Amino acid sequence: MSQTFAPREEFRAQAVAREQLYRDAQADRLGFWAQQARELLTWEREFTEILNWENAPVASWFGDGQLNACYNAVDRHVAAGNGDRIALYFEAEDGTSEEYSYARMQTEVSQIANTLASLGVRTGDRVAIYLPMGPIAVQTMLACARIGATHSVVFGGFSAEALHSRITDAGARVVVTSDGQFRNGKALPLKRAVDEALAHGDTPVDHVLVYQRTGMEVQWDEERDVWWHDVVPQASTSHTPAFVPAEHPLFILYTSGTTGKPKGVVHTTGGYLTQAAFTHKNVFDLHPESDVYWCTADVGWITGHSYVTYGPMVNGATQVIYEGTPSTPHKGRWWEIIEKYGVTIFYTAPTAIRTCMKWGEEIPAKYDLSSLRVLGSVGEPINPEAWLWFHRVIGAERCPIVDTWWQTETGAILISPLPGITATKPGSAQRALPGVSLAIYDNLGDEITNEDPGLLVITEPWPSMLRGIWGDSNRFKETYWSRFPGQYFAGDGAKYDEDGDIWLLGRVDDVMNVSGHRLSTAEIESVLVEHDDVAEAAVVGAKDDTTGQAVVAFVILREGADGDRDALVDELREMVRHDIGPIAKPRDILIVPELPKTRSGKIMRRLLRDLAEHRDIGDVTTLADSSVMELIKGIDAR
Ligand code: PRX
Repeated sequence: MSQTFAPREEFRAQAVAREQLYRDAQADRLGFWAQQARELLTWEREFTEILNWENAPVASWFGDGQLNACYNAVDRHVAAGNGDRIALYFEAEDGTSEEYSYARMQTEVSQIANTLASLGVRTGDRVAIYLPMGPIAVQTMLACARIGATHSVVFGGFSAEALHSRITDAGARVVVTSDGQFRNGKALPLKRAVDEALAHGDTPVDHVLVYQRTGMEVQWDEERDVWWHDVVPQASTSHTPAFVPAEHPLFILYTSGTTGKPKGVVHTTGGYLTQAAFTHKNVFDLHPESDVYWCTADVGWITGHSYVTYGPMVNGATQVIYEGTPSTPHKGRWWEIIEKYGVTIFYTAPTAIRTCMKWGEEIPAKYDLSSLRVLGSVGEPINPEAWLWFHRVIGAERCPIVDTWWQTETGAILISPLPGITATKPGSAQRALPGVSLAIYDNLGDEITNEDPGLLVITEPWPSMLRGIWGDSNRFKETYWSRFPGQYFAGDGAKYDEDGDIWLLGRVDDVMNVSGHRLSTAEIESVLVEHDDVAEAAVVGAKDDTTGQAVVAFVILREGADGDRDALVDELREMVRHDIGPIAKPRDILIVPELPKTRSGKIMRRLLRDLAEHRDIGDVTTLADSSVMELIKGIDAR
């Protein structure tokens, strides 16, 4: 029997209403979502149709309605008399801070929208955003939404090559970037990567709008580049939002899949905003008039889209955004920020919790964390040890922890406890939220109802589901809808426990999860084999105490490649950094004489994972040549 923590008294009042949500959704799922869409959003034109699934697996939710995402996130709060409420407290890495009220957001987002329009951006165009975490990034996303342009945010840690492929795939007309960004107290370049990406000469980009963040020197293309400070502050502060159909694409966000090429996950407006706002309000027990919410995710990831830019702002919340790393300039930085702003809801990733655990509990003990009332975890399974530490050291055994399972593709949290209702349990994300229908299947597609492990599937469409992969409808169908026809295959293993609670068991495909970031084994392998000395490469995600998984690469050299091996390993790491970004750099690279393969030639990653995790090698009878494992076993990682 797992340890459980009972719901707390102070959540009792909401608990009754929340229990009702489960009952309402159970009784009439579509009616429930329609009610949420009407209550949580302001529609320019009311919808009459809830779900249209005729074109499955491409869903249409609230299809004949019209709305604007930015109007919902900003203007209507000002119109309701909440213009003075703080939308964002911005904490810069150097300790300076700035407040952004909803009224200020409206003015500045309008100026950015007018600027983008003057650079030729029209409703339906794509805009790439390559900015550091901060208010400018949030405002730029909202400004795109305001004119009905589809944004594609590329995380500032991705390389020029990764940026280039995302810009061309999306067909972006404008890139918004900054000269550089602060990381660990250092100014690192960003615009340089944009210059490099556009130097390929095959992108449809006409203009680059450049925000000055660090003051570092940049190269300049007079025809193409525009300084933010030359145009945005001068632009008109009034702008009429473009009301778009509910199914208008709000954004594209690239994520790693099982093949080499990242997928442009497409989210649309009405359904996405409904579910982002619904989950943000209920999973975190949000009281917008009194809570101070802080999600540590960067807007380069889906968590930053749904739980920094859209969910909280649609709900009129007050939130903190922080530019830097948790250890700059000291290891108590996060807890100092919680104390400074009186943060009440704190949402972060297990990998960060584990890092803080390593630093020692005496660090958070120095700060007053008594304002906290709800804690959240996202991005990877949270091990019970980290859960218990988070609960005891940060939450003083007072704050419920919501372990939220979801994906870039799902758009919003689908599995999570609700504070005050569910007795929380370290390591389990517990149950499907109201309005979400899921099941666990075995390999043959039969539903598992006992405690055997199986594959997680979502059995009914949900409002914030992805609508496709940009420019690749076949891949959309293949990846998610072909494993179990008509059902969404999430790619995660899962099982129920004796109480019927769900435990997520990690990916079942060739996707790795490093520090909560999704990486594809195939994408890294295809970089490694570009090196002249490399004949073959296999990458696995091996268990890592801090980052959850770490990238471990096995490499076979071409005949005649007899140069310095340490130098080669350095070169390979650098290639991965250059082509994808620092997050994808292998922790270990092993140069091996052979790779274990089945008789049909498929690399047996399970065995490589065993090796990388220093486990005994299991059954090798399906190997074409079982002596291969003996050859590899003794080889040290570099
Ligand atoms: O394997 C699951 C894991 O992260 C994957 C989704 O990654 P991404 O699209 O980058 O989105 C991350 C933020 C939502 C999932 O397929 N994952 C996410 N949250 C959890 C999780 N695994 C276990 N427990 C979670 N709470």
